[in-house]
Parts: sequence; C-alpha cells; structure tokens
Amino acid sequence: MKKIAVLTSGGDAPGMNPCIRAVVRTAEYLGWEIYGIRRGYVGLIEDDIIRLTGDDVNDIAQKGGTILKSARLKDFEKIEVQAKAAETLKKHNIECLVVMGGDGSFQGAKALSDHFGINVVCLPATIDNDLAYTNYTIGFPTAVNTVLEAMDRIRDTMQSHQRICIMEVMGRRCGDIALFAGLAGSADAILLPGIDVDYKELAEKLIDNRSRERNSNIVVVAEGFGSCAEVRKELSKYMEPDYLRDIVLGHTQRGGRPNMQDVNNAIKMGSYAVEVLEKGKTCRAVGINHGDVFDLDITDALSVPTIIRKDLYKLSQIIAD
Ligand code: ADP
Ligand code: F6P
Ligand code: MG
Repeated sequence: MKKIAVLTSGGDAPGMNPCIRAVVRTAEYLGWEIYGIRRGYVGLIEDDIIRLTGDDVNDIAQKGGTILKSARLKDFEKIEVQAKAAETLKKHNIECLVVMGGDGSFQGAKALSDHFGINVVCLPATIDNDLAYTNYTIGFPTAVNTVLEAMDRIRDTMQSHQRICIMEVMGRRCGDIALFAGLAGSADAILLPGIDVDYKELAEKLIDNRSRERNSNIVVVAEGFGSCAEVRKELSKYMEPDYLRDIVLGHTQRGGRPNMQDVNNAIKMGSYAVEVLEKGKTCRAVGINHGDVFDLDITDALSVPTIIRKDLYKLSQIIAD
C-alpha cells in the first residue's frame, strides 16, 4: 500500500478544496493511505501532518480557500531546509507528494524530487494563470468572474457621476486577470505588463467617451503594470482629476465559491495526479490543454516562456467602449 501526502502552497486559489477532495478520494479508492500537510512547505518542515480519509473531505468542494491552509516560506530555496522537509516525509514513510500551487511551489517540489528522491506531482493552482505550459490554472476563471462582478458594481456608481474608475487587479507579473476581465467586462482600457501606454492619448479617449456618454467608466490595471494610484496620477495631468477614482480590488479576488469550470477541472486534475503517481512517475506537472489533462516534466513545464497575448489585447482595443 502506498502512503502519499498532499499540500497547498503559495497564494490560495478557489478550487484547491475540490482538488484536495479528488486527490483524497482517488487515493482511497486505490486503497492508499493519505496525509494532509498543513501550511504548505512550512508544515512540511514542522511536521504538521494530519491523516485524511474520504470523510474528512465531505462538504468542501464548494468552498474557496484551502482546508489545509497555505503559506509562503522563502527559506525553502535552501537545500538544508528542503532536507528537513524530506526527513519529515521519510519519518512517516511517505514516498509521494502532491503539491498544489504556482511556479514557486513547483520549484520546491522539483527540489524534493531532484535532491531527495521524493515522487512529486504538481497541480497548477493560482488565480494568476502565470504557468505558461498549461492553458488553465485552478482558480483563474473564478477570480476573473469575481472581478467582473466588482466591475458591474463599480460601473453603476461611476456612470451615475460620469466618473472613471482605475481598477487594479491581481496577477503578479502576469496580466491575464486584467486582460480576460477587462475584455469580458468592456473596460475602456486595459493596462498590462510589457505594454506601454500613452497617458495623454488615453486621457483624450476617456474625455471623448465621456462627452459621448458611451464609455464603460472603467480602466483595468494589472498589478504587474503598476499601481492604480500611479495611473490616476498620470491621467490627472491630462484631464480633470475629479473625474477619476481608483480602487485596489485586492484579496476579494482570491476568495469565494469556485465556479463550475474550476471545480470540475480541479476534480479531473486532482484525480489524474494520483494516477500519475500510481504509474510510478515523478517530477511531473499536470496541465490542461483544450480540455485534455496531460502531464510533463516539471523542468519542461517551468521552461515554457510566458506569452504576451497581443492578439487578445488588440481585440480588446478594437471593441472597447
Ligand atoms: P506560487 O507557488 O503561487 O508561485 P510563491 O512564488 O510564493 O507562490 O511560492 C510558494 C513557495 O514555494 C515559496 O514561499 C517557497 O516556499 C517555495 N519556493 C519558491 N521558489 C522556490 C525555489 N526556487 N526553490 C524552492 N522553493 C521555492
Ligand atoms: O499569487 C497570487 C496572488 O494573489 C497575486 O496575484 C498577488 O500579487 C499575491 O498573491 C498577493 O499575495 P499576498 O496574499 O501575500 O498579499
Ligand atoms: Mg509565483
């Protein structure tokens, strides 16, 4: 009988819970013993481990966040800290580890496989959608929908006062939350990392839209581009500052019920991760491409370069209000 463990690491993402549930139930189906590591790599070095059974994951699929809790641990880059983590797993005779998180969490898992022979499989779970090897990361669609809901509320009040709101969304260095929400939410403009903006031109466009009462009253800014306060300051040089407001949407984007796409993909990918381990594979990253779940080596996964979605950005400009 195999003994495996699962942990969630980095920023939590809606869909981590149904993914944990799928991992636990699939492992139990195979007759394996499964453990949960609490607080990501912090729990792994502090031996914060709990036994999980199918019953422990009842009633969690619809919940945001992660029942296992998450954490960031900068020191996990050090081999002596990774050695402690490997020791914990060896102490419990756990030979396989399922890691849910983003690129940093994948690096940590890869180190455990490369240096200590732990069989690891990683699942992309981050609202940022910043893992280029996969079309999809768990939590991204839910986060985008949360931004859309917020945009609707903000637009009501902005339109009533003919104001423009500069709305800063998350995504770290990746602009996907801003781009996908800005496109679906008819933003007047979307400011993305890697794409320059001419503030004078943008202000003129916003003023023109305002005079024609056809604007959407929202400019979406990816945090990787810069802060909404900075953008507001720049635009204020070319237009009436009192037309402008700004908001950092913040952690509201990370919470909430995972949507259908996130729950179902999390289930498929979580279960697939256990199958990868059953086949005796290690150092694998699971992804989804056009609906199909696949796995590849973590090193190959992390070496896929990030793309700037110029075509989608151009489309957003063409159809912008
Ligand atoms: P995410 O996994 O969402 O990208 P982070 O970048 O914060 O989130 O990474 C999560 C955790 O993964 C970090 O806090 C750290 O413990 C671990 N980690 C990040 N980079 C590395 C690395 N190069 N080597 C080992 N572990 C790492
Ligand atoms: O990686 C997920 C994410 O929400 C990013 O979009 C954001 O930059 C960061 O985490 C925020 O981190 P924290 O929760 O530590 O403030
Ligand atoms: Mg990261």
